[in-house]
Parts: sequence; structure tokens; C-alpha cells
Amino acid sequence: MISLTKRYQELNFRMLWIEELGKHIGEKVILRGWVYNRRDSGKVRFVLLRDGTGICQCVFADSEVEKKYFELADSVNQESLVEVEGTIREFDRAPGGVELAARSMKLLADSVDYPITPKEHGIDFLLSRRHLWLRSSRQHALLRCRDTLIRAFHEFFGERGFILIDPPMITPTSCEGTTELFEISYFDDKAYLSQSGQLYMEPAAAAFGKVYCLAPSFRAEKSKTRRHLTEFWHLEPEVAFLDLAGDMELAEEMLSFVVKELLEGRSTEIEFLGTWGKNKQEKRAFREHIELLKNLNPPFYRITYTDAVKLLAKKGVNIQWGDKFGADEEAIISAVYDKPVFCHRYPKRSAPFYMKEDPENPELVKNFDLLAPEGYGEIIGGSQREDDLAKLEAAIERHNLPREPLEWYLDIRRYGTFVHSGFGIGVERTLAWITQTHHIRVTIPYPRLMDRIYP
Ligand code: 4AD
Ligand code: MG
Repeated sequence: MISLTKRYQELNFRMLWIEELGKHIGEKVILRGWVYNRRDSGKVRFVLLRDGTGICQCVFADSEVEKKYFELADSVNQESLVEVEGTIREFDRAPGGVELAARSMKLLADSVDYPITPKEHGIDFLLSRRHLWLRSSRQHALLRCRDTLIRAFHEFFGERGFILIDPPMITPTSCEGTTELFEISYFDDKAYLSQSGQLYMEPAAAAFGKVYCLAPSFRAEKSKTRRHLTEFWHLEPEVAFLDLAGDMELAEEMLSFVVKELLEGRSTEIEFLGTWGKNKQEKRAFREHIELLKNLNPPFYRITYTDAVKLLAKKGVNIQWGDKFGADEEAIISAVYDKPVFCHRYPKRSAPFYMKEDPENPELVKNFDLLAPEGYGEIIGGSQREDDLAKLEAAIERHNLPREPLEWYLDIRRYGTFVHSGFGIGVERTLAWITQTHHIRVTIPYPRLMDRIYP
């Protein structure tokens, strides 16, 4: 990079990122990037140049450039790396409002038979070439939104004095149920990939009051659905002296905040996603979704599990109290509302061991799932934690969990036990809902699915 910069200085040119061009109209510059696409129109050749920060149309006019450059512009391969020299000028219809009047172009690295062409490809073909597919405009827009979403999460918790605590990924025991564990060999022993940072956040909340983590979680779920990854990014706050009601308030404030940040910070990408590959009806649905996001303010809706079962039964679903909700049930519940809805107080018999028993009804736990509208289902799961040592010990036994690897966790109830709550939100499910992306496999750079760990 240093030697390049020096060369440009000697040439008295500025090397700029495409995103900066709008501020340099009239200047001579050198752009370096990959050929996204090209087209011709009579005596003009257009090369769309991509440098990761944006796309710039480079215009090669027959009358203004040497023949060899014109010919290169006429033949250069898709995704070849080139250097283009020219002058920036205004062009209203281009993103960023500028284009480059090119004077010369140099081929730095050819790209022969780039596999992803502008024609349509199947999803398996594209996922197997995910390392290249990242260069395409829809993937680019989605992952830029992801970047903003993650930054917004950090900003929300940072501004409120939460301390970031990183949990381990290698754990001696299960947190969310033993059927979904990835087992690994750990020297002479076995260990597991973490399903959640929660058990490590609880002690951290006793140490720091307000904490959160953002880390991968692993689930060996044998489910091939549009909302399951085997490795996902999990944001988990944990707060001392917060009960279930406060936990839900924290969740709705956080979600409203990050949605606003995304609408403001990534308006170009969101607008693009709202039209990409969509028919008229889908475009209208997307616009309605954006209206919903713009009006996303607390409070969200709240319904108890018990009332949700009644609601489902009324809608003709064959369901008994105690049954778990699947994607279909969640979609029916959330369709009733024009904002996300907290479904709270689920049956204890199918809840994880750490959830606090509801003192008003010991059949229930003080937990919630936040269901996103428009059929996206659960994006947050949270609870108040059991702070009574005897009850927690009984729950561990009831769940048939080995006691010894959890002794350290029980210490938190032995040394100054405290009311505390937290939740977990999946980055990919949240991004999929906000951007109305049907399958979460494209909301993460390199998805890990039941049948895919390549590339
Ligand atoms: O509901 P879950 O399993 O809750 C927990 O893990 C708690 N320990 C969290 C806590 O209280 N600290 O997972 C929380 C969220 C889900 O709502 C979902 O958004 C996401 O994590 N998630 C997944 N995302 C993608 N693929 C999967 N297989 C996921 N499983 C959960
Ligand atoms: Mg859950």
C-alpha cells in the first residue's frame, strides 16, 4: 500500500475509494478495482468498476482515449483487477452522482471464466461459491446491513454502560438442552461447542451489574429450515436486579434502536434490497414493511403463552396447553399484530433448567420469546433466571444434567444470589427479518448448515 501511494504521488494523481468520489468532482484520479460488468453503446465503452466501497461507471469514449485502452475496455474480463485513470465528473443518474471520464486503463490481474455471471444461478451453485458470491450486489448490501446491525448493538449497550464480556466457545456442559450439542474431543476428555454464553454472563452480571456478549453459538440441530444455522452469532445481555418485565422492556428498546440505526445508516442498501429480484406485489410488501419499521417504537405487544394457545385454538389450530410452538404457530400468532409480540410465561415442563419458576403459578416459567411480524417467528428468547439454589438444583436433576460441571454455576446462588434476567438475540434472524430475507443462510458471510460447511 505504501509503495502504491508513493507511485501515485509521483504521478500527481490521487488514489481514491469509490465511495469518496462525490467530494472530488473535476479531479484527476486513479481508481483500482474489479470489473463488475461492462457494456457498449456505439463509440463508447462503459466499464463498471467495483472496489468494495461502491461501483463507478468508467466511460471510455472512442474519440478521447487511445485505441489500446478502448480495446481493453471492450474486452476486459469480468472480475479482472484493473487500474483506471481519468477525471471525475457529475452524472446524476449514477449512485454517488458521479462517473469517471476515463483516459487509460491497465490490466493488473486477469480473471478468466469467472463462474458467477449476471445470469441466474441456483442456490447450491452460489453457496458453493460463497467466497466469490460475496462480491455480488445483493450479498454486498446484506452484509453491509449486517455490519451496521452489529455496530448498533454495540452502541446500544455501550451507551448504557454495559460491559462486554467474552464467553468461552469450548464448554464442559450443555446450556440449552443436550440434543443439540456438538461434541468435540478435548485432549483425553470430551467437551462441547457452546450453545449460548448465558451461563457465563450470569456470574459476570454479579461482577459487573450490566454485561453482554456477542459470540458464535453452535446448535447441532437436525433441522433444515429457513431459520436454522448450526453456527450463528448470538448477542446476550444479562442484567442484575432486572425482572422479566424489565427484561422485555430492554429487548424492545434495543430492537427499536437498532432498527432505526439501520434505516438511517443503510438506506441505500435497504432501498436496493426492496427492489432486487422482486415483482410489483413483493415491492409493495417491502414498502409496507419499511413503514412498519419506521414506526417501531416501544411498547411492543404482550401475550401469555396460555392466551396464545387459546388464540391458536380459536384460529382452528389443533393444539393443547403444554405443546411447543413451531414456525407455523408463531406465524399465526404474530400475524395478529402490526409490531413484534412478546409471548411470555411458557410451561415449565419444556423450559430449560435455568429459567425462574413463576411464583404465581409453578407450572410456568418467567420467560419470553419475541416473535417478529410477517412470519419471521422467534428472534429473541429471554428469561428471568432461577435465583433459588434449591429450586435450581432440583431443575438440574429433573433435566438429568450432570451436576459436577455445573457446580461453578451454582456458586452464583451460594454467594449473594440476586434477581437477574437476560436474553439472547440471533444476529442472522434479526437481519433476515429487517431486510425481509427469506432464508437466513445469506445473512451470514459463511453459513454453516446441516449439509454445508464448504467453503
Ligand atoms: O432461544 P435460545 O435458544 O435462547 C438461549 O440460547 C438463551 N440462553 C439466551 C439467553 O437468555 N441468554 O436462542 C436465542 C436466540 C433465538 O431467539 C434466535 O434468534 C437465535 O438465538 N437462535 C438461532 N439462530 C439461528 N440458528 C439457530 N439454530 C438458532 N437457535 C437460536
Ligand atoms: Mg428460544
